[in-house]
Amino acid sequence: MTILVTGGAGFIGSHMADHLLARGHRVVILDNLCTGFEENVPAAAEFVKGDVRDPGAVAAAFDKGVEAVFHIAGQASTIVSFDDPAEDLSVNVTGTLNVMNECIRRRVTRVLYASSMTAYGVPAKLPVTEDEPVRPISYYGITKEAAERYLFATAGRVDLDFDFHVTAFRMFNVYGERQSLDNPYQGVVTIFMANILKGEPITIFSDGEQTRDFVYIGDVADAWLRALDNPASYGTVYNVGAGGSISINRLVDVTLDCFGKSRETYEVRYLPERPGDQRHMTADISRLRTDLGWEPRVPFDDGMQRTLRWAVNKSAPGA
Ligand code: UD1
Repeated sequence: MTILVTGGAGFIGSHMADHLLARGHRVVILDNLCTGFEENVPAAAEFVKGDVRDPGAVAAAFDKGVEAVFHIAGQASTIVSFDDPAEDLSVNVTGTLNVMNECIRRRVTRVLYASSMTAYGVPAKLPVTEDEPVRPISYYGITKEAAERYLFATAGRVDLDFDFHVTAFRMFNVYGERQSLDNPYQGVVTIFMANILKGEPITIFSDGEQTRDFVYIGDVADAWLRALDNPASYGTVYNVGAGGSISINRLVDVTLDCFGKSRETYEVRYLPERPGDQRHMTADISRLRTDLGWEPRVPFDDGMQRTLRWAVNKSAPGA
């Protein structure tokens, strides 16, 4: 199949592209290189440099004969969503509408969408299931959820003369190789690693007792690949987490330990909680297990070691 990966020069998208190519698919990447890097684009993929907000760029990517879309391009920071809500809205919602319109125009029947656990806001119970009401507390959560709804509403349109199959993945805290070491707004695992590699103090927002469900990128890609041509996933939302719960304080200790350091030897400071920060998040992953036979295979310590090796290598002089 020919698959368009929007955001394919970024952390999550480039891993998806690698996995698709390994399965023998043809991959087209659309990315504006705003937070992605051209070096992440696999040599075997076709690259269209452009913004999902630009209908012409989206059409140029679809011109390559696209049969399915992994829609991952987006503004991915809760902090940026509060600083510039219009930017967050345009990238995440208008960008998705452009992709969707092009699917309708060309009868592209399959879209897999990168949604987010931020859609849940503060769930009444944990682990959170996909049936929990969504009440986002960040602007980012609102735009990710809105795009999800546009896609599912379109899939249900009675006036479409073709089947439009949508699957949305509410991703929890994805981490791994190629997550940014330079973006202070995205991905706490590599933010802490980058802090240590640069000799900067580590900053914990709030008391550090907030928890997250960290899921390794290879496991996330595996979930998407299993869903691609599996009808059980059509019209379905899936949580993608590891089903675990790790506090930010523990993450700091584990990260310091990876570098042979501890809080006695390294500065860790606490700053006030930031807006839109969820307190506790853990995914119920039974739906993904049942429908797609998926299991998170990479334990947290293993994933941290893999990410660490990559980060150290990437930061080595001359790298
Ligand atoms: C993250 C992503 C979001 C994604 C979601 C689900 C960001 C900003 N958000 O939300 O795009 O959709 O997971 O996959 O990437 N923290 C610190 N110190 C720091 C950085 C962060 O204490 O230097 C804390 C945060 O306040 C938060 C936790 O660590 O409580 C996790 O932060 P982060 O990795 O940024 O992700 P989320 O906000 O959980």
